[in-house]
Amino acid sequence: MSAVRLLPPTLVNQIAAGEVVERPASAVKELVENAIDAGASRIDVVMIEGGQALISVSDDGGGMTADEMVLAVERHATSKLPDDDLVRIRFLGFRGEALPSIGSVARLCLTSRPRGAESAWSLTVEGGVKGLPMPAAHPAGTRVEVRDLFYATPARLKFLKAARTELSHATDVIERLGMAHPAIAFSLSDGTRKLLELPARRGEPAAALLARVAQVIGRDFEANALALDAERDGVRLGGWAGLPTYNRAGAVAQYLFVNGRPVKDRLVIGAVRGAYQDVLSRDRHPVVALFLDLDPEQVDVNVHPAKAEVRFRDSGNVRGLIVGAIRHALAGAGHRASTTVSSATIGALGGGAFPPSHVHHAAARPSLPLIRAGMAAQAPFDLAEAVAGFDLPPAAPAAEPAEPGAEDYPLGAARAQLHDTYIVAQTATGLVIVDQHAAHERLVLERLKQALAEGGVRRQGLLLPEVVDLGEAAAARLAEHAPDLAALGLVVEPFGAGAVVVREVPALLGDSDVQGLVRDLADELAEWGQGHSLQERLSRVCATMACHGSVRAGRRLGQAEMNALLRQMEATPLSGQCNHGRPTHVTLSLADIEKLFGRR
Ligand SMILES: Nc1ncnc2c1ncn2[C@@H]1O[C@H](COP(=O)(O)OP(=O)(O)OP(=O)(O)O)[C@@H](O)[C@H]1O
Ligand SMILES: [Mg+2]
Repeated sequence: MSAVRLLPPTLVNQIAAGEVVERPASAVKELVENAIDAGASRIDVVMIEGGQALISVSDDGGGMTADEMVLAVERHATSKLPDDDLVRIRFLGFRGEALPSIGSVARLCLTSRPRGAESAWSLTVEGGVKGLPMPAAHPAGTRVEVRDLFYATPARLKFLKAARTELSHATDVIERLGMAHPAIAFSLSDGTRKLLELPARRGEPAAALLARVAQVIGRDFEANALALDAERDGVRLGGWAGLPTYNRAGAVAQYLFVNGRPVKDRLVIGAVRGAYQDVLSRDRHPVVALFLDLDPEQVDVNVHPAKAEVRFRDSGNVRGLIVGAIRHALAGAGHRASTTVSSATIGALGGGAFPPSHVHHAAARPSLPLIRAGMAAQAPFDLAEAVAGFDLPPAAPAAEPAEPGAEDYPLGAARAQLHDTYIVAQTATGLVIVDQHAAHERLVLERLKQALAEGGVRRQGLLLPEVVDLGEAAAARLAEHAPDLAALGLVVEPFGAGAVVVREVPALLGDSDVQGLVRDLADELAEWGQGHSLQERLSRVCATMACHGSVRAGRRLGQAEMNALLRQMEATPLSGQCNHGRPTHVTLSLADIEKLFGRR
């Protein structure tokens, strides 16, 4: 090993660049953030060959003098910490690292003219070597050009992906920053065509924000999302949480902001997952736009090289706020399922009438009239009125006259059961098709959760205790969780080698398949492993029990049973989807149906 020495500045900057400038999109992020910090109202980005040949970011912000530019490309030079206060950070930047880092791995050229100045100047840095300021022509504002990114660090060059990939990363970066700054206009071009154009959204802030959010996430987002507005111990949460049925296969559509800074923070992502835990299966992801605002002293933004993660002083409070606010909103949404579900249905029924993409794509965008139709059919309703006079589905005889006035309920009057699986109901404005198993599963789950919250689930002794053979490990795991299970009304005890005996079951489940339930629980326990909170474990057990305790697809229901099911769905939180995020029902308005038949 050779002697210890201080590294030369260019090398230091290249090392910093390794963390800060991972790919072209991260250079775009740094430069656009600088433009936002400079007070720009319009920011235009051009990326040639996916940004490898050229990245150019132009703004109409405050600009820099020649002297300021010379300093700006030095390491640790920043105008953004005037009071040396790392706690009250008011800008996106604060480290003074981005420009020198980029200048050490690419050819960097700054051209700038401060507002009100006579002329512009430019300055180049190539492979870490700074040139002299030269007079230039440029309107007020700044243009930063980055050529031949990573030419000075060939190892990094090799990892560059196809231009298209880099462009889509950059689009994501600009959309996220753009969502936090609706009043600023943004554009991205690949040199020949515009890939993104976000016009400035001015006027009333909430409306401006919603317009920007809808442009990025999709026009149908608002109709399929619940507005959030909550506060807890000085932390505010605003934004929108998508309906569970409006889900995606990846977590790409989760837009998270802390004090106006886009983040991909693990704590926030985890809280969102927790909030949707029992309305979405683990391979589906909700769509959300969450804006957290809190005293800067309560959050450290200087913990991640790209500032994507933050550290909250009171992370429990932040997590609780997110989980609580989203769950509360979802519970208030009652039986609503997303409009995309009915539009997908129409697409499927209509065949040629709609482009095929509407049929399968969960995020298909319905036309405006369709959104309106969907919203009208899912308007809020009076809970008290809806539940009056109904209880658990009684084992009633099949043929009974329809409830008088039942059509006025949101889910209407049951008219028929098809394939012993689907209930078809007529509403005042259209029809509803209900998946009886999915719906009942949700009802049982909500009752279990409620019973649990109220101090315990009522048990029912089995006439003949049931012995279930599971194998050693599974039986031991189940015995270990016996106290959790008992709280939920399932009493199991070890029974010799590799078996358990079930003595009592939750009364709610009725005479369900005990063997199947216990086996599924054992499998699930094996899958979860350690590290789940009691709360999480209990809610999983509830979900599994609900699945087993529900009327199966394939059971014939009487009309009274069907109507009772519909009334309970209306009165039950989260009943728009089963525990896996699948819709429990679809709604077709008369207008939709008329459209199917070409009457409109
Ligand atoms: N587009 C711009 N318009 C005006 N001034 C700019 C612009 N870009 C950079 N600057 C100036 O150059 C300085 C250095 O920029 P740089 O991005 O390297 O650091 P920073 O933004 O201060 O911190 P960070 O490294 O966290 O981004 C800034 O503090 C700012 O004064
Ligand atoms: Mg910066």
